[in-house]
Amino acid sequence: MKLILAPMEGLLDTYLREIITNTGGYDWCVSEFIRVTTMVLPDKVFYRSVPELLNGGVTRSGTPVYIQLMGNNPSVVSDNAAKAVELGALGLDLNFGCPSPTVNGKGAGAILLNEPEKVHQIVAAARQAVPSTTPFMAKVRLGYDHTDNIIEIAQGIEAAGADMITVHARTSADKYIAPARWEWLARIRESIKIPVIANGDITDINSFQQCRSISGCDHFMIGRASVRHPFLALQIQQSIRNQSIQHISWPQQQELLLQFAILMRKSKNDIGSASRVKKWLKILSKGSKTTQQGADKMFDQIKEMKTLDQISQVLTAV
Ligand SMILES: Cc1cc2nc3c(=O)[nH]c(=O)nc-3n(C[C@H](O)[C@H](O)[C@H](O)COP(=O)(O)O)c2cc1C
Repeated sequence: MKLILAPMEGLLDTYLREIITNTGGYDWCVSEFIRVTTMVLPDKVFYRSVPELLNGGVTRSGTPVYIQLMGNNPSVVSDNAAKAVELGALGLDLNFGCPSPTVNGKGAGAILLNEPEKVHQIVAAARQAVPSTTPFMAKVRLGYDHTDNIIEIAQGIEAAGADMITVHARTSADKYIAPARWEWLARIRESIKIPVIANGDITDINSFQQCRSISGCDHFMIGRASVRHPFLALQIQQSIRNQSIQHISWPQQQELLLQFAILMRKSKNDIGSASRVKKWLKILSKGSKTTQQGADKMFDQIKEMKTLDQISQVLTAV
């Protein structure tokens, strides 16, 4: 079984990837998408989005970061895929699930699920542009606003040479509201030979087990819950091995928050970074009843603070 930390644009950047993968349990993570439109992007764009490239393509805890590209032009996507590997990417992922109206309006992301042949062409071109030894994935939803194409799309992605396919078990029209339709993962899995990575609504050990049993999948990607429960992957691994599940206390999460602040303070001490700590604290406070009280109290203490220095002092003092 593989557990993968999902790409989450605007949230799971290099700092949070480092903190969360360091808790253990994740086999690899996928970067926030890098949008490719008309040209090969300069090196700095890749380094800015995935600074782990300067560290052998892995987070400091040694977890590989696969680079996700999003585009709709086969030759531009493939040139950028080749470039990413040249810069040291240990794996690649292509995004066919982004629901953003702006992106979809430009013919990229989930709208491509209306064009199975185009998806096939993009994956085939990019797959051929990188060494066959480089892990190569595509990430899809069940469709744009219907599920009629998904089997054809999955088969096309397999025929194009992808090693795995991640399926977020919703259509783009479902956004994040309707429950994930795990039964579709089983249908897709049965229609292809490459592994399906199940994604959508894995929020705790219980839902993980349900998703596993309904989908029959062996591999899982966790998005929003990875940020709310930073030790979830570790706990899932423990449950799989029939080990006792580690109880996570608020002070343990608070320690992660401090590490996050310190990490960002080393790189950039701006107001934006202070609000990132507050944002993560808010998300943590929604994690579990046992941590909520501590997190809410902490939020009250730091909510007016403008700098990472001030916030770190409070986090260290407690
Ligand atoms: C804030 C946010 C940003 C996201 N950014 C990306 C992205 O860059 N690329 C991508 O393929 N999916 C992205 N997703 C989708 C997630 O990777 C995942 O498929 C989705 O959240 C469902 O999984 P979950 O229920 O475990 O969160 C994003 C989701 C959220 C909520």
